[in-house]
Amino acid sequence: MSDTPTAHPELLAWIDDVAALTTPDRIVWCDGSTEEWTRITDELVASGTLVRLDPGRRPNSFWARTDPTDVARVEERTFICSTDPDDAGPTNNWMAPDEMKATMTRLYRGCMRGRTMYVVPFCMGPLDAPNPMFGVELTDSPYVVASMRIMTRMGSAVLDAMGAGATFVPALHSVGAPLAPGEADVAWPCNDTKYISHFPQTREIWSYGSGYGGNSLLGKKCYALRIASVAARDEGWLAEHMLIMKLTSPEGQVRYIAGAFPSACGKTNLAMLEPTIAGWTVETIGDDIAWMRFGADGRLWATNPEFGLFGVAPGTDRRTNPNAMRTLSRGNSIFTNVALTDDGDIWWEGMGEPPAHLTDWRGQDWTPGAATPSSHPNSRFCTPIGQCPVLAPEYDDPRGVPIDAILFGGRRATTIPLVTEARDWVHGVYLGATLSSETTAAAAGRVGVVRRDPMAMLPFIGYHAGDYFQHWIDMAKGATGDAEKLPKVFYVNWFRRADDGRFLWPGFGENSRVLKWIAERLDGRGDAVETPIGRVPTASALDLTGLDVDKADVEAVLRVDRAEWEAELPKVTEWFAKFGDKLPAVLWAELDALRARLRDS
Ligand code: GDP
Ligand code: PGA
Ligand code: MN
Ligand code: MN
Repeated sequence: MSDTPTAHPELLAWIDDVAALTTPDRIVWCDGSTEEWTRITDELVASGTLVRLDPGRRPNSFWARTDPTDVARVEERTFICSTDPDDAGPTNNWMAPDEMKATMTRLYRGCMRGRTMYVVPFCMGPLDAPNPMFGVELTDSPYVVASMRIMTRMGSAVLDAMGAGATFVPALHSVGAPLAPGEADVAWPCNDTKYISHFPQTREIWSYGSGYGGNSLLGKKCYALRIASVAARDEGWLAEHMLIMKLTSPEGQVRYIAGAFPSACGKTNLAMLEPTIAGWTVETIGDDIAWMRFGADGRLWATNPEFGLFGVAPGTDRRTNPNAMRTLSRGNSIFTNVALTDDGDIWWEGMGEPPAHLTDWRGQDWTPGAATPSSHPNSRFCTPIGQCPVLAPEYDDPRGVPIDAILFGGRRATTIPLVTEARDWVHGVYLGATLSSETTAAAAGRVGVVRRDPMAMLPFIGYHAGDYFQHWIDMAKGATGDAEKLPKVFYVNWFRRADDGRFLWPGFGENSRVLKWIAERLDGRGDAVETPIGRVPTASALDLTGLDVDKADVEAVLRVDRAEWEAELPKVTEWFAKFGDKLPAVLWAELDALRARLRDS
């Protein structure tokens, strides 16, 4: 290759190897320019993958429908390929690296025939970071290219910054749908055979068969969580499935809060929340991923490695998440598997009254009262974070922000109170390690089943979860050995339900009331009662000014029910037993102490 925009020898050699294996018709280097975006989205419109939305209402925005079998992350097809199966642990699928590479090499052979192979240089986090985290994705999907331009810092500037020597994560992606000469393409090419494979020792990613974001935008889950979690373990930092927000009190006191909730459990909403209590503001830093490193001051500083928002569409509305609606109204977005209105706009469940007619996510006519929802429950918007009207200026600062509190949360109809404060760091790690949530449509499989999802990282830990827990505990040693400087840990649950099935807590903007209590606790104020599970506010400790809510509901959402908690104990025992002697002994001790406190309560 002579006319290449880089002289990076490893990059050039890898591209040659992949091209020889996958035999694309042509290779295109992505520069990240507006012209390139226009060309690629025009091509996607021509091929039927994208439909251009009404430019008056949704400028430069597009509607995409996937194949109905390719709508979510596929956890059963996601592999951690460490040499030793013990390094992948009981929560990951494992295959030996050589075996996986042999299998996938057979699949990749000729798989880009009839297609273009795009070279997508990207950087996770700001390009001016002291240690920019580079990656290069090779993909045969122009939908992936367009999405990567929204979700990452991408293009020529990255290639220039890489020079001829920078290390990068090579990330190979194919939809697995070669075209014979003259064969017509389909709107959403993919393959029934799917592999999302990670090679943590060599820091490589190989993805095959899916075009869905979580499986194909390889900078996100694959790099910034699975591969980065391994780097973080080795180098003493944390790569986590967390939102990052800036909370400012009426007095102007700033608190930075990170929060880990499983997919489709409220991160994006909390990250851009519009407070309902006077004088408080929330600004967004990140909505899905936090990289947290110790600063020289001994505190944990968090950055958002992403550049866009890839958010759950259904439920997003002017009333629930007005800042997301404002972000989207600025255009430049891709909507996948939502419904299309007859006048070229988008609609999804939860966005007010449905229009009289829609084209649903399967491309069928849809009218109100239809048996199936118009939008897939895991339909997504993909939009530049720079368009968020409450974006904190710090979001782009390579130093990040010092984290005051970490929230763990899940979707639990019972048992878990609205908010609980951990007694100390190890107790906080226990809360994270035992975090549980009802499954959602963000991953293929059954929905609504309670499962343990430690630190909301079950699908994303790139190594043995027992070692991961130990790594979290070891963070207490920190940079300075001063555990006092670590964030305080809280456990939240916006999803507790009454017997009749309704949510006990109004959620969304009203969650600012919980944030206020957390801020007060960080100040050493705010009333809390010691319970066997941790510190829980009394109903009177929460600011409920102006909130139209039944006092009995507030008491119910805060309740620590001994019988419910005793029912959790055997489940936690069973969960911990999975990890054998890799489970840190202090976590067993936490469980024993909880059991004893419940008995004595
Ligand atoms: P993420 O995938 O963790 O980023 O979760 P999202 O913020 O996208 O929310 C997932 C779904 O949960 C959406 O349908 C939201 O409308 C809904 N949701 C988010 N926050 C709340 C809340 O506080 N209460 C309730 N009831 N639903 C919420
Ligand atoms: P989410 O991100 O956490 O916003 O749902 C996508 C995912 O985790 O699959
Ligand atoms: Mn996520
Ligand atoms: Mn989200």
